[in-house]
Amino acid sequence: MAAQLATTFTGLRFENPFLLASAPPTESDSNIMRAFDAGWGGVVTKTIGLHPVVNVDGPKTKFLRSEPDSPRLSMQKRPGAALHSSWNWELISDKPLDWWVPRIARIKQAHPTRILVASIMAGSGTDEELRNWQTLATACQAEGADALELNLSCPHMDRKDMGSNIGKDQGLISIVTQAVSEVARVPIWAKLTPSTTDIVLEAGGAFLGGAAAITSSNTFPSLPLIDPQTLEFEMNVDGLVSSGGLGGPAILPLSLAKMAQMTQAFPDKSFSGIGGVAEFAHALNYFLLGCGTVQVCTAAMLDHAIGPNIITRLLTGMAETMDRHGWSTLEDFRGIRRDRVVVHSRIRRPDAKAYHGGYETEGYASAER
Ligand SMILES: Cc1cc2nc3c(=O)[nH]c(=O)nc-3n(C[C@H](O)[C@H](O)[C@H](O)COP(=O)(O)O)c2cc1C
Repeated sequence: MAAQLATTFTGLRFENPFLLASAPPTESDSNIMRAFDAGWGGVVTKTIGLHPVVNVDGPKTKFLRSEPDSPRLSMQKRPGAALHSSWNWELISDKPLDWWVPRIARIKQAHPTRILVASIMAGSGTDEELRNWQTLATACQAEGADALELNLSCPHMDRKDMGSNIGKDQGLISIVTQAVSEVARVPIWAKLTPSTTDIVLEAGGAFLGGAAAITSSNTFPSLPLIDPQTLEFEMNVDGLVSSGGLGGPAILPLSLAKMAQMTQAFPDKSFSGIGGVAEFAHALNYFLLGCGTVQVCTAAMLDHAIGPNIITRLLTGMAETMDRHGWSTLEDFRGIRRDRVVVHSRIRRPDAKAYHGGYETEGYASAER
């Protein structure tokens, strides 16, 4: 039987389980329409808020690259260098809710079978801020958004009651999710920050508040590197820098570790995996750990802004892999490697005779002369 790429996630039918993540690829209706034309099963809008947004002067994202024959890591463009990560300090959408509302309706009219998720963000310090979440949620769902993704994870917010500062507080996560649940008629996805000690606690808070799914990861808090010649950060404004977010290939293993913790703790819940996905082999990791959808940002940004080649490769890679393994739907392989992640003491050791204290074994080889 031919591989079936369609899937159901949080009660929504997806033509395929791949979404563009909330970020520059989804910052406008024209981009989102192009993304659906290219084949993405879903799109999460760039995060919509009620507060005015002014981004920093100059570039908001750059790409760190490595070289095959040297340890050099730099954002400087050079031939033969390979992508290591993206680094950004971009804020949420600088377009107001009024700008988004008619566009959400238009996108859904043009693409009724594709899934449009509205990413929203407000504060959490006052009742008024909680009402702002509700205003955003009701406005987006009234125009046809199929789901709401709560941005509890933006890593560059000074405000203590916003973004990843909510995502680090299990209680606040519950309160915000609960406030949105009171008005939501569509599923709520909570996008968590990876920057916490035990993400299982935060995921529990989101489910307690009524989330249907967890999305993870947002970018990892980080700094750009300092140029050894100029002694300036590779990205700065007037010499100054601030904590921003790392995405792309470098975060794939980091994000998987967080995801494995959550899918093991909540095997019956829904998860949307993000972080470092550029081809199906990457996405497969998230599916095998239990995710029902996968989202992409950095790789799409570098592929004609919305990833037409990325989505083509994801779809063909998924169909080929399913055929090879004899799987007919995503449910045939979702979560089948979740239980392989165990505590360290469960990993088999060599017996006493075979063990030489570790010093002569591979990995501790004497220095090359
Ligand atoms: C320039 C840029 C802007 C982003 N803006 C948002 C945003 O507005 N809301 C959000 O939830 N995530 C935002 N993200 C995070 C991405 O959605 C995604 O979680 C992250 O980049 C990791 O995925 P990747 O490794 O595929 O890039 C942004 C990422 C980048 C690079």
